[in-house]
Amino acid sequence: MQKSAQKRALITGATSGIGKEMAIYLHSLGWQLTLTGRNEEALQRMAALFGEGTKYIALDLAKRGAAERLYTFCRGDRIDLLINNAGFGVFGTFTETSLSEELELIEVNIRSLHILTKLFLRDFERRDSGCILNVASCAGFMTGPMLSSYYASKNYVVRLTLAIREELRRRYSRVKVSVLCPGPVDTNFNNRAGVTFSVKPASPRYVARYAIDRALAGRAIIIPTLGVQLSVLGAKLLPDAVSRAVVYELQKRKQRT
Ligand SMILES: NC(=O)c1ccc[n+]([C@@H]2O[C@H](COP(=O)([O-])OP(=O)(O)OC[C@H]3O[C@@H](n4cnc5c(N)ncnc54)[C@H](OP(=O)(O)O)[C@@H]3O)[C@@H](O)[C@H]2O)c1
Repeated sequence: MQKSAQKRALITGATSGIGKEMAIYLHSLGWQLTLTGRNEEALQRMAALFGEGTKYIALDLAKRGAAERLYTFCRGDRIDLLINNAGFGVFGTFTETSLSEELELIEVNIRSLHILTKLFLRDFERRDSGCILNVASCAGFMTGPMLSSYYASKNYVVRLTLAIREELRRRYSRVKVSVLCPGPVDTNFNNRAGVTFSVKPASPRYVARYAIDRALAGRAIIIPTLGVQLSVLGAKLLPDAVSRAVVYELQKRKQRT
């Protein structure tokens, strides 16, 4: 792909997994980067690797005001691509999972993504350019017993992104808005959620490259692998009662013994 000279991408959750691979890929395409996550050492290492022009800020997006601080941090730069990637899951039966962890999940997966999408989209609309890639999951098309708040959060991300996309289309806007919906990916996600995948995960490198190429091309929904494309189709065709029973069985298998 041709080098995109001096464009700048902001990536949340850039310290590991899909976000880190997105940073590596965008850097290889000639993009400048603004990176964030909580792990300051990882951000420092990445900034040293990518060199001049790379900016970073360590932030906990579960904390109130963090998304607004990130937006303010970026004010001096023109951001061309916003990737709302930070996110995590909480595994377990709803009555047994930690309320405080789930409230943090809602802050990171929903609230901060919502705030950043709105603030940057207003800027993008004013200049009629820019691209937003919101990272959801195939979970965003399903009901998810055993990972209930995670699935619900990703449903929010899918529906918010697609609604915004339709509004932009009606206004003949050139701003691009996409949602990434992968299945299992080999990252730190499992460790944080305390689960083990029951199917072979995709590589974060593959998912990152696949997603960036399609987001920049203006694709609405980005699902990187055929197996996951088929499972999303299945979830749409099956009655929800059947789909959620299947998801329960699949999730149960992920439980660590
Ligand atoms: N892996 C999968 O199977 C899978 C499948 C579908 C969708 N996804 C989605 O892909 C996205 C990236 O996850 P991943 O798989 O790459 O997992 P990961 O390796 O655990 O990366 C998650 C990233 O989010 C950041 N993050 C987490 N909590 C944060 C907080 N409170 N404040 C700021 N940053 C925070 C982490 O940075 P710090 O630790 O430095 O804070 C890290 O950079 C998530 O939205 C996830 O839901 C993953």
